[in-house]
Amino acid sequence: MLKLFAVVLLLSGVALATDNYDGYKIYDVKASNAFEKQILLRLSANEDYDFFDLPRSLEAPSRVMVKPADQEGFEHLLEKYSLDFSVVSEDLGVSLRQEREENQNQRLMNLRSAGRSISFTAFHRHAEINAYLDELAAAYPSRVTVEVAGKSYENRDIKTITITNGDGKTGKNVIFLDAGIHAREWIAHAGALYVIHQLVENFAANSDLLKNFDWIILPVVNPDGYEYTHTSTRMWRKTRKPISSACYGTDANRNFDFHWGEVGASSYSCSDTFKGETAFSEPETQILRDLLLGLSGRGKFYLTLHSYGNYLLYPWGWTSALPSNWRDNDEVAQAGAEAIRSATGTKYTVGSSTNVLYAAAGGSDDYAFGVANFPVSITMELPAGGTGFNPSTSQIQSFVAETWLGIQAMAKKVAEKF
Ligand code: ARG
Ligand code: ZN
Repeated sequence: MLKLFAVVLLLSGVALATDNYDGYKIYDVKASNAFEKQILLRLSANEDYDFFDLPRSLEAPSRVMVKPADQEGFEHLLEKYSLDFSVVSEDLGVSLRQEREENQNQRLMNLRSAGRSISFTAFHRHAEINAYLDELAAAYPSRVTVEVAGKSYENRDIKTITITNGDGKTGKNVIFLDAGIHAREWIAHAGALYVIHQLVENFAANSDLLKNFDWIILPVVNPDGYEYTHTSTRMWRKTRKPISSACYGTDANRNFDFHWGEVGASSYSCSDTFKGETAFSEPETQILRDLLLGLSGRGKFYLTLHSYGNYLLYPWGWTSALPSNWRDNDEVAQAGAEAIRSATGTKYTVGSSTNVLYAAAGGSDDYAFGVANFPVSITMELPAGGTGFNPSTSQIQSFVAETWLGIQAMAKKVAEKF
């Protein structure tokens, strides 16, 4: 019944107007000295250019999406300052249209099958994800509880799934996993769903991970943004609450009240890294805050999934100083990186957010660590697909399976320590 309803919704959804990204180009720009890096940083402050990643080390290029009207000026600036660049996509619109169609087909195929509301052959809508959680709660009542933690700005149910081994013991330590703080990072949502799938539907193989820990998973922190990337603007990052007449949304990962707004966040509401009008201005970050604070003492491992870039990041994100127990965090992250590298060869960079990526205050990871007292707090940036945020549907299964190996190894390391 639910599934039939979803098929009707899906078919009607096809007619919705979407941003088409026709003629949008994606560039890789490389700074080869400190001066050029400064230029690049300046360019990244211009909201006309969508920097997929901020300038980091000199070796790594920055990826930038530019709309047709701004391309001439952008290329002119790059040439003026002799920054090396290459064009990664000549027309993002073409590939996004194809991918959208492919995803619809894959979703329809799954909806017509007799199985679950989600699969790992498509990126699923928020309603399908919530339906999956409810299916698990109904099928495994002794091990699974699903709760509505609150409502998003646009009134969607933000659900958590609590997974236990069913031994009835209460008050165990907790591993808290979330995904989808940033809307466009679709592989992160899929990664969280795969963890849920493994812990619940492949329980026999994973029961050791649930012996001394309960897992609480929030697979879609920002459902309004996520739905918006499906129905309208594929590259949307923020929440969807209007700020000014022209600009919507806050960067949820700049909105947490810990050194809020001090570094790496924007005060300009149109910016993709807008910190919000106040700390915790968003219902979505309030919900995550309350969940984390409610676990203080029991919460031992906070893991938040993002994409992209192959990073395992630990505190701090607001300063280059390291917390006193950084070695615990490093050991856990290294265990994850090593498990992935030895299984598939995929390499992750491990380190503190500020030191290996960039300083950005107000992140959920710093809050979980610094305020809610999770002794291990890690941001996992999954690998890029397509031009970064858009892996093809055929890549999902291998990406999430690989990610799971890393998460498994990190959870085991945490269990050894706490
Ligand atoms: N790509 C993530 C972001 O920009 C990294 C967050 C790392 N954590 C931090 N507190 N800065 O939001
Ligand atoms: Zn992110």
